[in-house]
Amino acid sequence: MARPVIIDTDCGVDDALAILMALVDPAIEVVGITCVAGNVGLGHVVRNVATVCDAALAPAIPIFRGASRPLLMAPVDAASVHGSDGLGDVGFAPSTRPIEREPAAAALVRLARAHPGATLVPLGPLTNIALALAIEPELPQLLGATVLMGGAVRGTGNAAPAAEFNIYADPEAAALCFARGLNPVVLDWDLTLATPIAWPVWDGLVAGGPLGRHFIGPINTRLRERSLARGGRGINLPDPKAMAIVLDPAVARLEPAALAVDTGWSAARGMTTVDRRWHPAPPNCHVATELDLPRLLALVERTCQAACAFGT
Ligand code: BDR
Ligand code: CA
Repeated sequence: MARPVIIDTDCGVDDALAILMALVDPAIEVVGITCVAGNVGLGHVVRNVATVCDAALAPAIPIFRGASRPLLMAPVDAASVHGSDGLGDVGFAPSTRPIEREPAAAALVRLARAHPGATLVPLGPLTNIALALAIEPELPQLLGATVLMGGAVRGTGNAAPAAEFNIYADPEAAALCFARGLNPVVLDWDLTLATPIAWPVWDGLVAGGPLGRHFIGPINTRLRERSLARGGRGINLPDPKAMAIVLDPAVARLEPAALAVDTGWSAARGMTTVDRRWHPAPPNCHVATELDLPRLLALVERTCQAACAFGT
């Protein structure tokens, strides 16, 4: 029987690949996709998820609208990375997939009850997950596991000097998730930076099949150009690495960790610290410390080779 997976996303270009990796995996059933504002505004995120499902010729998967802004602070975005539409401004035809009326936080709780032991995969700011935890404090017990992309456990920020985007975009929500027993597996930005996919390897992967050629490659074209112009060695794919841990747990080495989120209003806002003292605080998550790049590449390769609704 396929393993149930619930994806929560602020669908930018790396979220798109992560979602596709799950959609093409026969061992996985994506039972719902909840949307949250982050990389781009909520309207774009919802449209992008529908487009991603179209691209992969996915069956009807319920898509839910979630939080359009963080719990407390003003919204931030990452359109400079993902394009103004969040999918590289390629201009795909609008999807006709329906969007559910049920709010994402309620849907997360309902899906977790309907699929006990499901894996939750948050790929964006943790606003929807925090709201779901407020509705159902037993959410962690209903879920089998949570594997999220977020944080920078060695302090190399991307949204702020010491803060990674998903945490920085809603630190209060993130702090709540780590404090309320979600006990996630964390794939962070520092490990992402340490494991880029070299450009020639990436180019070979996306040329390798219909979904790569007609969707995954095109949505990443601008990011590739920008990165090359800055001397980047390869593509940094945070969200697909988190999804890879779900699809193939042997892809990562994990260590228990006590992780704290800074919710102050200083330069450290959104920073994630791991307690590395001799006697650390009790662990509240597992942090991925090493990635098996060939295993990850095999998952990306299979995804690029899948059928695509776009192109000739
Ligand atoms: C995270 O922020 C977003 O821009 C990416 O989609 C990823 O989830 C990386 O910091
Ligand atoms: Ca994301």
